[in-house]
Amino acid sequence: MSLKDKYQELERINSLADLGGGQDRIAKIHASGRKTARERILELLDPGSFVELDKFVVHQCSDFGMEKQKFYGDGVVAGYGKIDGRMVYLFAQDFTVFGGSLSRANANKIIKVMDMALKMGAPIIGLNDSGGARIQEGVESLAGYGDVFYRNVKASGVVPQISAILGPCAGGAVYSPAITDFIFMTKKTSYMFVTGPDVIKTVTHEEVTKEDLGGALTHNSRSGVAHFTADDDQQAMMMIRELIGFLPANNMEDPPAIPCLDPIDRQDDVLAKLVPEDPFKPYDMKELITAVVDDRNFFEVQPLYAQNILVGFARMNGKTVGIVANQPAMLAGVLDINASNKAARFVRFCDSFNIPLITFLDVPGFLPGTDQEYGGIIKHGAKLLYAYCEATVPKISVITRKAYGGAYVVMSSKHVGGDVNFSYPTGEIAVMGPDGAVNILYRDKMDDAQKAAAVEDYKNTFCTPFQAAGRGYIDEVIHPCQTRRKLIEALEMCSSKHEDMPTKKHGNIPL
Ligand code: HXC
Repeated sequence: MSLKDKYQELERINSLADLGGGQDRIAKIHASGRKTARERILELLDPGSFVELDKFVVHQCSDFGMEKQKFYGDGVVAGYGKIDGRMVYLFAQDFTVFGGSLSRANANKIIKVMDMALKMGAPIIGLNDSGGARIQEGVESLAGYGDVFYRNVKASGVVPQISAILGPCAGGAVYSPAITDFIFMTKKTSYMFVTGPDVIKTVTHEEVTKEDLGGALTHNSRSGVAHFTADDDQQAMMMIRELIGFLPANNMEDPPAIPCLDPIDRQDDVLAKLVPEDPFKPYDMKELITAVVDDRNFFEVQPLYAQNILVGFARMNGKTVGIVANQPAMLAGVLDINASNKAARFVRFCDSFNIPLITFLDVPGFLPGTDQEYGGIIKHGAKLLYAYCEATVPKISVITRKAYGGAYVVMSSKHVGGDVNFSYPTGEIAVMGPDGAVNILYRDKMDDAQKAAAVEDYKNTFCTPFQAAGRGYIDEVIHPCQTRRKLIEALEMCSSKHEDMPTKKHGNIPL
Protein backbone atom coordinates (compact mmCIF):
# COMPACT_ATOMS: atom_id res chain seq x y z
CA MET A 1 0.00 0.00 0.00
CA SER A 2 1.44 3.37 -0.99
CA LEU A 3 1.63 6.22 1.49
CA LYS A 4 -1.18 7.95 -0.40
CA ASP A 5 -3.33 4.84 -0.14
CA LYS A 6 -2.65 4.63 3.57
CA TYR A 7 -3.82 8.20 4.09
CA GLN A 8 -6.91 7.52 2.01
CA GLU A 9 -7.62 4.38 4.02
CA LEU A 10 -7.40 6.42 7.22
CA GLU A 11 -9.84 8.93 5.80
CA ARG A 12 -12.22 6.17 4.74
CA ILE A 13 -12.19 4.48 8.15
CA ASN A 14 -12.58 7.81 9.91
CA SER A 15 -15.65 8.68 7.86
CA LEU A 16 -17.12 5.25 8.50
CA ALA A 17 -16.50 5.59 12.25
CA ASP A 18 -18.09 9.05 12.24
CA LEU A 19 -21.30 7.49 10.91
CA GLY A 20 -21.60 4.93 13.72
CA GLY A 21 -24.38 2.54 12.78
CA GLY A 22 -25.13 4.42 9.54
CA GLN A 23 -27.29 7.19 8.10
CA ASP A 24 -30.59 5.33 8.49
CA ARG A 25 -30.09 4.80 12.18
CA ILE A 26 -28.94 8.39 12.63
CA ALA A 27 -32.15 9.54 10.93
CA LYS A 28 -34.15 7.38 13.37
CA ILE A 29 -32.38 8.99 16.34
CA HIS A 30 -33.16 12.46 15.00
CA ALA A 31 -36.78 11.49 14.36
CA SER A 32 -37.07 10.50 18.02
CA GLY A 33 -36.01 14.00 19.11
CA ARG A 34 -32.51 12.92 20.18
CA LYS A 35 -29.05 13.83 18.95
CA THR A 36 -26.26 11.44 18.11
CA ALA A 37 -23.38 10.79 20.47
CA ARG A 38 -21.04 12.94 18.38
CA GLU A 39 -23.50 15.82 18.12
CA ARG A 40 -23.89 15.81 21.90
CA ILE A 41 -20.15 15.90 22.43
CA LEU A 42 -19.81 18.84 20.05
CA GLU A 43 -22.40 20.75 22.04
CA LEU A 44 -20.89 19.86 25.39
CA LEU A 45 -17.25 20.73 24.75
CA ASP A 46 -15.39 23.87 23.76
CA PRO A 47 -15.18 24.01 19.95
CA GLY A 48 -12.33 21.95 18.54
CA SER A 49 -11.25 20.58 21.90
CA PHE A 50 -12.45 16.98 21.62
CA VAL A 51 -9.78 14.31 21.34
CA GLU A 52 -11.28 10.93 20.54
CA LEU A 53 -9.69 7.72 21.77
CA ASP A 54 -10.19 4.18 20.46
CA LYS A 55 -12.21 5.33 17.48
CA PHE A 56 -11.42 2.16 15.53
CA VAL A 57 -12.17 -0.34 18.27
CA VAL A 58 -14.52 -3.15 17.19
CA HIS A 59 -16.09 -5.91 19.24
CA GLN A 60 -14.46 -9.34 19.40
CA CYS A 61 -17.65 -11.38 19.65
CA SER A 62 -18.21 -14.22 17.20
CA ASP A 63 -21.50 -15.62 18.54
CA PHE A 64 -24.88 -15.00 16.91
CA GLY A 65 -23.30 -14.02 13.59
CA MET A 66 -21.68 -11.04 15.21
CA GLU A 67 -18.41 -11.44 13.30
CA LYS A 68 -20.28 -10.08 10.25
CA GLN A 69 -21.59 -7.02 12.07
CA LYS A 70 -18.78 -4.76 13.17
CA PHE A 71 -18.92 -1.00 13.47
CA TYR A 72 -15.92 1.19 14.24
CA GLY A 73 -16.17 2.53 17.77
CA ASP A 74 -18.54 -0.28 18.79
CA GLY A 75 -21.31 1.87 20.23
CA VAL A 76 -19.49 4.40 22.33
CA VAL A 77 -17.54 7.57 21.55
CA ALA A 78 -14.92 8.24 24.22
CA GLY A 79 -12.14 10.69 24.89
CA TYR A 80 -11.38 14.01 26.49
CA GLY A 81 -11.86 17.70 25.82
CA LYS A 82 -12.44 21.04 27.49
CA ILE A 83 -15.27 22.95 29.10
CA ASP A 84 -14.44 26.64 29.48
CA GLY A 85 -10.81 25.70 28.99
CA ARG A 86 -10.82 23.05 31.73
CA MET A 87 -10.18 19.36 30.99
CA VAL A 88 -12.93 16.75 31.30
CA TYR A 89 -13.06 13.09 30.29
CA LEU A 90 -16.19 11.70 28.72
CA PHE A 91 -17.96 8.90 26.96
CA ALA A 92 -21.15 9.04 24.93
CA GLN A 93 -23.06 5.88 24.14
CA ASP A 94 -23.96 5.64 20.45
CA PHE A 95 -27.47 4.23 20.08
CA THR A 96 -26.97 3.73 16.34
CA VAL A 97 -24.65 0.78 17.02
CA PHE A 98 -26.49 -2.17 18.61
CA GLY A 99 -28.61 0.32 20.53
CA GLY A 100 -25.55 1.65 22.38
CA SER A 101 -25.45 -1.66 24.26
CA LEU A 102 -22.43 -2.38 26.44
CA SER A 103 -19.97 -4.87 24.98
CA ARG A 104 -16.62 -5.98 26.35
CA ALA A 105 -14.86 -3.78 23.81
CA ASN A 106 -16.87 -0.64 24.46
CA ALA A 107 -16.73 -1.17 28.24
CA ASN A 108 -12.96 -1.19 27.83
CA LYS A 109 -13.16 2.21 26.12
CA ILE A 110 -15.26 3.59 28.97
CA ILE A 111 -13.02 2.29 31.69
CA LYS A 112 -9.96 3.61 29.88
CA VAL A 113 -11.27 7.20 30.07
CA MET A 114 -12.43 6.66 33.65
CA ASP A 115 -8.95 5.49 34.64
CA MET A 116 -7.43 8.48 32.86
CA ALA A 117 -9.81 10.89 34.58
CA LEU A 118 -8.88 9.44 37.95
CA LYS A 119 -5.13 9.51 37.21
CA MET A 120 -5.16 13.05 35.82
CA GLY A 121 -7.67 14.34 38.37
CA ALA A 122 -10.44 15.65 36.11
CA PRO A 123 -14.23 15.20 35.99
CA ILE A 124 -15.78 12.30 34.12
CA ILE A 125 -19.00 12.81 32.20
CA GLY A 126 -21.11 9.93 30.87
CA LEU A 127 -23.76 10.55 28.21
CA ASN A 128 -26.02 7.51 28.47
CA ASP A 129 -28.24 6.23 25.69
CA SER A 130 -28.18 2.46 25.67
CA GLY A 131 -30.20 -0.75 25.53
CA GLY A 132 -28.07 -2.12 28.39
CA ALA A 133 -25.92 -5.23 28.39
CA ARG A 134 -25.10 -6.42 24.84
CA ILE A 135 -27.21 -9.54 24.69
CA GLN A 136 -24.92 -11.36 22.25
CA GLU A 137 -21.92 -11.05 24.58
CA GLY A 138 -23.41 -12.57 27.72
CA VAL A 139 -21.11 -12.51 30.72
CA GLU A 140 -18.50 -10.38 28.92
CA SER A 141 -20.98 -7.54 28.93
CA LEU A 142 -21.92 -8.08 32.58
CA ALA A 143 -18.23 -8.08 33.43
CA GLY A 144 -17.91 -4.77 31.62
CA TYR A 145 -20.61 -3.26 33.84
CA GLY A 146 -18.85 -4.56 36.92
CA ASP A 147 -15.63 -2.91 35.79
CA VAL A 148 -17.45 0.40 35.27
CA PHE A 149 -19.20 0.26 38.68
CA TYR A 150 -15.92 -0.51 40.40
CA ARG A 151 -14.35 2.59 38.88
CA ASN A 152 -17.40 4.74 39.68
CA VAL A 153 -16.92 3.85 43.33
CA LYS A 154 -13.15 4.37 43.23
CA ALA A 155 -13.66 7.79 41.65
CA SER A 156 -16.42 8.80 44.08
CA GLY A 157 -15.24 11.76 46.12
CA VAL A 158 -12.02 12.01 44.07
CA VAL A 159 -13.23 13.52 40.79
CA PRO A 160 -16.72 14.86 40.06
CA GLN A 161 -18.80 12.32 38.13
CA ILE A 162 -21.73 13.51 36.04
CA SER A 163 -24.27 11.44 34.12
CA ALA A 164 -26.79 12.49 31.53
CA ILE A 165 -29.57 10.09 30.63
CA LEU A 166 -30.54 10.94 27.06
CA GLY A 167 -32.35 7.80 25.95
CA PRO A 168 -32.98 4.39 27.49
CA CYS A 169 -31.11 3.32 30.62
CA ALA A 170 -32.53 0.10 31.95
CA GLY A 171 -31.69 -2.87 34.15
CA GLY A 172 -28.40 -2.96 36.01
CA ALA A 173 -27.15 -0.22 33.68
CA VAL A 174 -28.87 2.33 35.92
CA TYR A 175 -26.41 1.69 38.72
CA SER A 176 -23.44 3.40 37.15
CA PRO A 177 -25.29 6.75 36.85
CA ALA A 178 -26.78 6.14 40.30
CA ILE A 179 -23.31 6.11 41.84
CA THR A 180 -22.27 9.30 40.07
CA ASP A 181 -22.73 12.68 41.75
CA PHE A 182 -25.34 14.25 39.49
CA ILE A 183 -27.84 12.89 36.98
CA PHE A 184 -29.38 14.98 34.20
CA MET A 185 -32.42 13.69 32.32
CA THR A 186 -34.12 14.97 29.18
CA LYS A 187 -37.90 15.33 29.12
CA LYS A 188 -39.81 12.80 26.98
CA THR A 189 -36.70 11.17 25.45
CA SER A 190 -35.02 9.55 28.46
CA TYR A 191 -36.01 6.93 30.97
CA MET A 192 -34.41 4.89 33.73
CA PHE A 193 -35.73 1.81 35.45
CA VAL A 194 -34.48 -1.45 36.90
CA THR A 195 -37.37 -3.41 35.43
CA GLY A 196 -39.55 -2.08 32.62
CA PRO A 197 -43.34 -1.85 32.26
CA ASP A 198 -43.69 -5.37 30.74
CA VAL A 199 -41.92 -7.12 33.60
CA ILE A 200 -43.85 -5.06 36.13
CA LYS A 201 -47.12 -6.06 34.50
CA THR A 202 -46.19 -9.74 34.67
CA VAL A 203 -44.98 -9.66 38.25
CA THR A 204 -47.25 -7.17 40.02
CA HIS A 205 -50.06 -6.72 37.45
CA GLU A 206 -49.52 -2.96 37.57
CA GLU A 207 -49.86 -1.07 34.30
CA VAL A 208 -47.56 1.91 33.86
CA THR A 209 -46.04 3.75 30.93
CA LYS A 210 -42.28 4.08 30.44
CA GLU A 211 -42.60 7.83 31.02
CA ASP A 212 -44.53 7.46 34.29
CA LEU A 213 -42.28 4.70 35.49
CA GLY A 214 -38.92 6.22 34.77
CA GLY A 215 -39.16 9.47 32.82
CA ALA A 216 -37.40 12.70 33.68
CA LEU A 217 -40.22 14.10 35.78
CA THR A 218 -40.67 10.89 37.74
CA HIS A 219 -37.02 10.77 38.74
CA ASN A 220 -36.68 14.50 39.31
CA SER A 221 -39.81 15.03 41.36
CA ARG A 222 -40.79 11.66 42.78
CA SER A 223 -37.93 9.23 43.29
CA GLY A 224 -35.16 11.79 43.72
CA VAL A 225 -32.86 9.62 41.58
CA ALA A 226 -32.14 12.49 39.16
CA HIS A 227 -31.03 16.04 39.88
CA PHE A 228 -31.76 18.07 36.75
CA THR A 229 -34.37 18.13 33.99
CA ALA A 230 -33.62 19.48 30.53
CA ASP A 231 -36.04 20.11 27.68
CA ASP A 232 -33.72 18.45 25.19
CA ASP A 233 -30.17 17.23 24.59
CA GLN A 234 -28.85 20.69 23.80
CA GLN A 235 -30.15 22.20 27.02
CA ALA A 236 -28.76 19.25 29.00
CA MET A 237 -25.29 19.90 27.56
CA MET A 238 -25.51 23.61 28.44
CA MET A 239 -26.54 22.77 31.99
CA ILE A 240 -23.64 20.32 32.40
CA ARG A 241 -21.26 23.05 31.26
CA GLU A 242 -22.70 25.41 33.86
CA LEU A 243 -22.44 22.82 36.62
CA ILE A 244 -18.81 22.02 35.75
CA GLY A 245 -18.05 25.74 36.13
CA PHE A 246 -18.80 25.53 39.86
CA LEU A 247 -16.71 22.44 40.56
CA PRO A 248 -13.02 21.80 41.18
CA ALA A 249 -11.35 19.26 38.90
CA ASN A 250 -10.69 16.93 41.82
CA ASN A 251 -10.75 16.65 45.61
CA MET A 252 -7.24 18.08 46.01
CA GLU A 253 -8.14 21.38 44.36
CA ASP A 254 -10.22 24.34 45.41
CA PRO A 255 -13.25 25.15 43.28
CA PRO A 256 -12.52 27.65 40.49
CA ALA A 257 -12.87 31.35 41.28
CA ILE A 258 -14.03 33.92 38.76
CA PRO A 259 -13.82 37.72 38.92
CA CYS A 260 -16.72 39.17 40.90
CA LEU A 261 -18.25 42.42 39.67
CA ASP A 262 -21.13 42.31 42.15
CA PRO A 263 -20.22 44.64 45.07
CA ILE A 264 -19.35 42.74 48.22
CA ASP A 265 -21.28 45.14 50.42
CA ARG A 266 -24.33 45.29 48.17
CA GLN A 267 -27.42 45.56 50.34
CA ASP A 268 -30.77 44.37 49.09
CA ASP A 269 -33.59 46.22 50.82
CA VAL A 270 -35.97 43.36 50.13
CA LEU A 271 -34.24 41.44 52.90
CA ALA A 272 -35.38 43.84 55.63
CA LYS A 273 -38.99 42.88 55.02
CA LEU A 274 -38.69 39.34 53.70
CA VAL A 275 -39.18 37.45 56.96
CA PRO A 276 -42.80 38.14 58.03
CA GLU A 277 -43.61 39.17 61.58
CA ASP A 278 -46.22 36.43 61.77
CA PRO A 279 -44.18 33.26 62.51
CA PHE A 280 -46.70 31.14 60.63
CA LYS A 281 -46.62 33.17 57.44
CA PRO A 282 -44.61 31.56 54.63
CA TYR A 283 -42.05 33.37 52.50
CA ASP A 284 -39.79 32.29 49.68
CA MET A 285 -36.28 31.48 50.86
CA LYS A 286 -35.13 31.56 47.23
CA GLU A 287 -35.66 35.33 47.29
CA LEU A 288 -33.21 35.56 50.15
CA ILE A 289 -30.64 33.35 48.45
CA THR A 290 -30.77 35.22 45.16
CA ALA A 291 -30.59 38.56 46.94
CA VAL A 292 -27.38 37.52 48.67
CA VAL A 293 -25.30 35.55 46.12
CA ASP A 294 -23.18 36.97 43.27
CA ASP A 295 -25.25 38.22 40.36
CA ARG A 296 -28.40 36.62 41.84
CA ASN A 297 -27.25 33.34 40.26
CA PHE A 298 -28.41 30.29 42.23
CA PHE A 299 -27.83 27.00 40.37
CA GLU A 300 -30.38 24.88 42.13
CA VAL A 301 -29.88 21.13 42.43
CA GLN A 302 -32.99 18.89 42.54
CA PRO A 303 -35.38 21.84 42.28
CA LEU A 304 -38.38 19.56 41.82
CA TYR A 305 -37.70 17.12 44.66
CA ALA A 306 -38.34 17.61 48.41
CA GLN A 307 -39.05 21.26 47.80
CA ASN A 308 -39.17 21.94 51.54
CA ILE A 309 -35.39 22.17 51.36
CA LEU A 310 -33.29 24.02 48.79
CA VAL A 311 -29.79 22.95 47.79
CA GLY A 312 -27.54 24.25 45.07
CA PHE A 313 -24.43 26.11 44.02
CA ALA A 314 -23.76 29.82 43.89
CA ARG A 315 -20.76 32.12 44.09
CA MET A 316 -19.81 34.58 46.80
CA ASN A 317 -17.16 37.08 45.80
CA GLY A 318 -16.44 34.87 42.79
CA LYS A 319 -15.93 31.64 44.74
CA THR A 320 -18.19 28.59 44.69
CA VAL A 321 -20.35 27.88 47.73
CA GLY A 322 -22.88 25.15 48.41
CA ILE A 323 -26.18 26.39 49.78
CA VAL A 324 -28.60 24.43 51.92
CA ALA A 325 -31.76 26.25 53.01
CA ASN A 326 -35.08 25.35 54.54
CA GLN A 327 -37.94 26.55 52.36
CA PRO A 328 -40.75 27.99 54.55
CA ALA A 329 -42.91 28.33 51.43
CA MET A 330 -43.21 24.52 51.25
CA LEU A 331 -44.48 22.48 54.23
CA ALA A 332 -43.23 25.32 56.45
CA GLY A 333 -39.67 24.18 55.69
CA VAL A 334 -40.04 21.03 57.82
CA LEU A 335 -37.37 18.34 57.61
CA ASP A 336 -38.77 15.03 56.38
CA ILE A 337 -37.20 11.87 55.01
CA ASN A 338 -36.76 13.14 51.46
CA ALA A 339 -35.45 16.54 52.53
CA SER A 340 -32.93 14.89 54.86
CA ASN A 341 -31.66 12.58 52.12
CA LYS A 342 -31.49 15.36 49.54
CA ALA A 343 -29.55 17.70 51.80
CA ALA A 344 -27.28 15.02 53.27
CA ARG A 345 -26.06 13.89 49.86
CA PHE A 346 -25.46 17.49 48.79
CA VAL A 347 -23.53 18.31 51.99
CA ARG A 348 -21.33 15.24 51.46
CA PHE A 349 -20.66 16.23 47.85
CA CYS A 350 -19.60 19.73 48.88
CA ASP A 351 -17.41 18.37 51.65
CA SER A 352 -15.73 15.91 49.25
CA PHE A 353 -14.86 18.71 46.85
CA ASN A 354 -13.80 21.52 49.20
CA ILE A 355 -16.90 23.64 48.64
CA PRO A 356 -17.82 25.78 51.69
CA LEU A 357 -21.36 25.37 52.97
CA ILE A 358 -23.79 28.16 53.73
CA THR A 359 -26.95 27.08 55.56
CA PHE A 360 -30.07 29.23 55.92
CA LEU A 361 -32.39 27.97 58.64
CA ASP A 362 -36.09 28.44 59.08
CA VAL A 363 -37.22 25.04 60.26
CA PRO A 364 -39.97 24.02 62.65
CA GLY A 365 -38.31 20.61 63.24
CA PHE A 366 -38.63 17.09 61.87
CA LEU A 367 -42.01 16.11 60.41
CA PRO A 368 -44.15 14.15 62.88
CA GLY A 369 -46.35 11.23 61.78
CA THR A 370 -46.52 7.49 61.35
CA ASP A 371 -45.56 7.71 57.67
CA GLN A 372 -42.31 9.35 58.62
CA GLU A 373 -41.57 7.15 61.63
CA TYR A 374 -42.34 3.91 59.77
CA GLY A 375 -40.35 5.18 56.81
CA GLY A 376 -37.31 5.62 59.02
CA ILE A 377 -37.08 9.38 59.63
CA ILE A 378 -34.73 8.45 62.49
CA LYS A 379 -32.09 6.95 60.20
CA HIS A 380 -32.69 9.39 57.34
CA GLY A 381 -32.57 12.43 59.61
CA ALA A 382 -29.41 10.94 61.10
CA LYS A 383 -27.82 11.02 57.63
CA LEU A 384 -28.12 14.79 57.57
CA LEU A 385 -26.72 15.05 61.07
CA TYR A 386 -23.87 12.73 60.12
CA ALA A 387 -23.13 14.67 56.95
CA TYR A 388 -22.90 18.02 58.76
CA CYS A 389 -20.80 16.55 61.58
CA GLU A 390 -18.25 14.94 59.26
CA ALA A 391 -18.00 17.94 56.91
CA THR A 392 -14.70 19.75 57.45
CA VAL A 393 -15.24 22.49 54.85
CA PRO A 394 -16.13 25.96 56.19
CA LYS A 395 -19.65 25.80 57.62
CA ILE A 396 -21.53 29.07 58.01
CA SER A 397 -25.17 29.40 59.00
CA VAL A 398 -27.82 32.10 59.16
CA ILE A 399 -30.96 31.57 61.23
CA THR A 400 -33.68 33.68 59.67
CA ARG A 401 -36.60 32.60 61.85
CA LYS A 402 -37.32 29.20 63.40
CA ALA A 403 -34.55 26.90 64.49
CA TYR A 404 -36.41 24.44 66.62
CA GLY A 405 -35.31 21.26 68.32
CA GLY A 406 -33.12 18.70 66.59
CA ALA A 407 -33.27 20.63 63.36
CA TYR A 408 -31.40 23.54 65.02
CA VAL A 409 -28.67 21.19 66.18
CA VAL A 410 -28.37 19.21 62.96
CA MET A 411 -28.11 22.03 60.47
CA SER A 412 -24.64 23.46 60.90
CA SER A 413 -25.01 24.59 64.53
CA LYS A 414 -21.95 25.46 66.58
CA HIS A 415 -22.37 22.07 68.29
CA VAL A 416 -21.79 20.10 65.08
CA GLY A 417 -18.78 22.14 64.06
CA GLY A 418 -20.35 25.29 62.61
CA ASP A 419 -17.57 27.85 62.07
CA VAL A 420 -19.63 31.03 61.96
CA ASN A 421 -23.23 31.16 63.13
CA PHE A 422 -25.37 34.20 62.42
CA SER A 423 -28.96 34.91 63.33
CA TYR A 424 -31.35 37.62 62.27
CA PRO A 425 -33.11 39.43 65.15
CA THR A 426 -36.19 37.44 64.05
CA GLY A 427 -34.42 34.16 64.91
CA GLU A 428 -36.27 31.79 67.26
CA ILE A 429 -34.03 29.20 68.82
CA ALA A 430 -35.93 26.87 71.10
CA VAL A 431 -36.62 23.24 71.90
CA MET A 432 -40.00 23.57 70.20
CA GLY A 433 -42.66 26.12 69.25
CA PRO A 434 -44.45 28.07 72.04
CA ASP A 435 -47.86 26.37 71.84
CA GLY A 436 -46.43 22.86 71.92
CA ALA A 437 -44.10 23.73 74.78
CA VAL A 438 -46.82 25.30 76.96
CA ASN A 439 -49.14 22.40 76.30
CA ILE A 440 -46.56 19.88 77.47
CA LEU A 441 -45.58 21.86 80.53
CA TYR A 442 -49.02 22.96 81.70
CA ARG A 443 -51.55 20.76 79.90
CA ASP A 444 -53.96 20.21 82.79
CA LYS A 445 -52.58 22.84 85.09
CA MET A 446 -53.72 26.08 83.44
CA ASP A 447 -56.85 27.56 81.94
CA ASP A 448 -56.78 29.11 78.46
CA ALA A 449 -55.98 32.64 79.69
CA GLN A 450 -53.07 31.40 81.77
CA LYS A 451 -51.80 29.33 78.85
CA ALA A 452 -51.93 32.38 76.59
CA ALA A 453 -49.86 34.31 79.12
CA ALA A 454 -47.40 31.41 79.37
CA VAL A 455 -47.10 31.32 75.57
CA GLU A 456 -46.22 35.05 75.55
CA ASP A 457 -43.69 34.47 78.31
CA TYR A 458 -42.15 31.54 76.39
CA LYS A 459 -41.95 33.60 73.22
CA ASN A 460 -40.18 36.44 75.00
CA THR A 461 -37.72 34.10 76.67
CA PHE A 462 -36.94 31.52 74.00
CA CYS A 463 -38.24 32.71 70.65
CA THR A 464 -35.34 35.07 70.17
CA PRO A 465 -31.72 34.59 69.16
CA PHE A 466 -30.44 36.35 72.27
CA GLN A 467 -30.41 33.39 74.66
CA ALA A 468 -28.18 31.50 72.20
CA ALA A 469 -26.12 34.63 71.46
CA GLY A 470 -25.61 35.13 75.21
CA ARG A 471 -23.96 31.71 75.36
CA GLY A 472 -21.78 32.11 72.27
CA TYR A 473 -23.79 29.60 70.23
CA ILE A 474 -24.67 32.44 67.85
CA ASP A 475 -21.61 34.52 67.00
CA GLU A 476 -23.45 37.58 65.79
CA VAL A 477 -27.02 38.80 65.45
CA ILE A 478 -27.07 40.67 62.15
CA HIS A 479 -29.43 42.93 60.25
CA PRO A 480 -30.75 41.02 57.21
CA CYS A 481 -29.49 43.72 54.84
CA GLN A 482 -25.92 42.93 55.94
CA THR A 483 -26.19 39.25 55.00
CA ARG A 484 -24.09 39.34 51.82
CA ARG A 485 -21.21 41.25 53.34
CA LYS A 486 -21.22 39.23 56.57
CA LEU A 487 -21.18 35.93 54.69
CA ILE A 488 -18.35 37.01 52.40
CA GLU A 489 -16.29 38.20 55.39
CA ALA A 490 -16.93 34.91 57.19
CA LEU A 491 -15.96 32.90 54.09
CA GLU A 492 -12.75 34.87 53.76
CA MET A 493 -11.96 34.30 57.43
CA CYS A 494 -12.55 30.53 56.99
CA SER A 495 -10.59 30.24 53.75
CA SER A 496 -7.55 28.80 55.52
CA LYS A 497 -9.62 26.33 57.55
CA HIS A 498 -7.99 22.98 58.16
CA GLU A 499 -9.60 20.30 60.27
CA ASP A 500 -8.62 16.63 60.53
CA MET A 501 -10.97 13.82 61.44
CA PRO A 502 -9.64 10.68 63.18
CA THR A 503 -7.99 8.24 60.78
CA LYS A 504 -10.35 5.47 59.80
CA LYS A 505 -11.13 3.26 56.84
CA HIS A 506 -14.50 4.93 56.45
CA GLY A 507 -17.37 5.87 58.70
CA ASN A 508 -20.64 3.99 58.88
CA ILE A 509 -23.27 6.53 57.89
CA PRO A 510 -26.77 5.18 58.65
CA LEU A 511 -27.95 4.13 55.18
C1 HXC B 1 -27.89 -5.90 21.74
C2 HXC B 1 -29.49 -4.34 21.32
C3 HXC B 1 -29.76 -4.24 22.70
C4 HXC B 1 -29.01 -5.05 23.60
C5 HXC B 1 -31.06 -2.89 21.67
N1 HXC B 1 -30.31 -3.50 20.72
N2 HXC B 1 -30.75 -3.34 22.89
N3 HXC B 1 -28.55 -5.16 20.86
N4 HXC B 1 -28.08 -5.86 23.07
N5 HXC B 1 -29.20 -5.01 24.93
C6 HXC B 1 -30.36 -3.27 19.29
C7 HXC B 1 -31.63 -3.74 18.64
O1 HXC B 1 -31.54 -5.09 18.31
C8 HXC B 1 -31.70 -2.85 17.42
O2 HXC B 1 -30.82 -3.35 16.44
C9 HXC B 1 -31.10 -1.57 17.89
O3 HXC B 1 -30.36 -1.88 19.07
C10 HXC B 1 -32.15 -0.53 18.28
O4 HXC B 1 -33.09 -1.16 19.13
P1 HXC B 1 -34.65 -1.03 18.91
O5 HXC B 1 -35.29 -2.05 19.77
O6 HXC B 1 -34.96 -1.05 17.45
O7 HXC B 1 -34.90 0.44 19.44
P2 HXC B 1 -36.12 0.99 20.25
O8 HXC B 1 -37.41 0.55 19.63
O9 HXC B 1 -35.88 2.44 20.40
O10 HXC B 1 -36.04 0.29 21.70
C11 HXC B 1 -34.95 0.53 22.52
C12 HXC B 1 -34.97 -0.43 23.73
C13 HXC B 1 -35.05 -1.89 23.23
C14 HXC B 1 -36.17 -0.11 24.59
C15 HXC B 1 -33.71 -0.15 24.52
O11 HXC B 1 -34.07 -2.10 22.22
C16 HXC B 1 -34.82 -2.86 24.33
O12 HXC B 1 -35.75 -3.17 25.11
N6 HXC B 1 -33.61 -3.41 24.42
C17 HXC B 1 -33.25 -4.38 25.42
C18 HXC B 1 -33.19 -3.70 26.76
C19 HXC B 1 -32.73 -4.66 27.85
O13 HXC B 1 -33.54 -5.43 28.37
N7 HXC B 1 -31.42 -4.67 28.08
C20 HXC B 1 -30.84 -5.53 29.04
C21 HXC B 1 -31.05 -4.86 30.38
S1 HXC B 1 -30.34 -5.80 31.67
P3 HXC B 1 -31.06 -3.11 14.86
O14 HXC B 1 -29.98 -3.91 14.22
O15 HXC B 1 -32.43 -3.62 14.58
O16 HXC B 1 -30.91 -1.66 14.62
C22 HXC B 1 -28.82 -5.22 31.73
C23 HXC B 1 -27.98 -5.94 32.73
C24 HXC B 1 -26.88 -5.07 33.18
O17 HXC B 1 -28.43 -4.34 31.08
C25 HXC B 1 -26.38 -5.70 34.44
C26 HXC B 1 -25.38 -4.86 35.10
C27 HXC B 1 -25.10 -5.37 36.48
